[in-house]
Amino acid sequence: MSGQRSTTATAAAARRMFPLYLLAAFLLAIATHVAAQSTRQPDLEAIDRAWSDLNPDLDVRTPGTAVPFAPPPEAEIPNDVFGQTIRRGIAIFTDTRNEAKPYAGDGLACASCHLDRGRRPGAAPMWAAWVRYPRFRAKNDAVNTMTMRIQGCFRFSMNGTPPPDDSEIVTALQTYFFWLARGAPTGATLAGAGFPRLADPAEPPSIARGEAVCSPANARRATAATARAAAWPAGSAISSRRYGGRTPTTGALA
Ligand code: HEC
Repeated sequence: MSGQRSTTATAAAARRMFPLYLLAAFLLAIATHVAAQSTRQPDLEAIDRAWSDLNPDLDVRTPGTAVPFAPPPEAEIPNDVFGQTIRRGIAIFTDTRNEAKPYAGDGLACASCHLDRGRRPGAAPMWAAWVRYPRFRAKNDAVNTMTMRIQGCFRFSMNGTPPPDDSEIVTALQTYFFWLARGAPTGATLAGAGFPRLADPAEPPSIARGEAVCSPANARRATAATARAAAWPAGSAISSRRYGGRTPTTGALA
């Protein structure tokens, strides 16, 4: 009798436990799924670290060290899947707000700042950038990748959301940059890399002169210029250094 009772008790306990097993299995499945997903999500902290304080690195115009280089003409883009991916990269670069819609935060395109579709020397051209990464920087004690730089520009220069690592968008952009750098020596500093370092202003900072510059009349003029800029087609050769109004950039062009 007692044996039967205990068997019944065990069976009852097992029945009570059963949903718990189910729940545990369910939670495990979710955790595995989340872990798999998160490996593909951008590491925002690393992107932020890679972004900050890069200006001294970009000042690479040391005479005597820069290697001359010219990217290939676009007529030489091959007519195969590789070429299609390059063209997709160009489309994203020049019409970011439409071609990378979920990630672009403002009306700018990559080419608004990296002029001539990322080809112009002195406007952080992508052929020069390609051969600079991955690169170790003592400042953040980490290897900074091209993916992180692309994600950093989506996040800070475009006030948007970084696309995931290895996403179709990142791959197409990198395919374009790789092709632009065809034949360039890896690790070299190419002439025209980065943005030029501007000379210090002739006069020291002054709040009084600043107030005069920000007069109501000047503010109206700036608003009008911004409105005109808004009417320009995506990918026009417009440097947001001049038209900062459309550029909610954090720390990059300050
Ligand atoms: C508002 C202007 C602006 C826009 C728009 C912009 N960038 Fe940038 N980009 C910069 C600046 C400024 C830097 C240099 C930042 C720094 O390191 O101080 C930079 C740096 C880079 C670098 C590293 C360059 C090098 O020589 O090391 C890459 C790669 C890059 N951007 C890609 C992109 C891509 C891709 C887009 C479009 C998704 C984009 N950028 C949009 C301003 C911009």
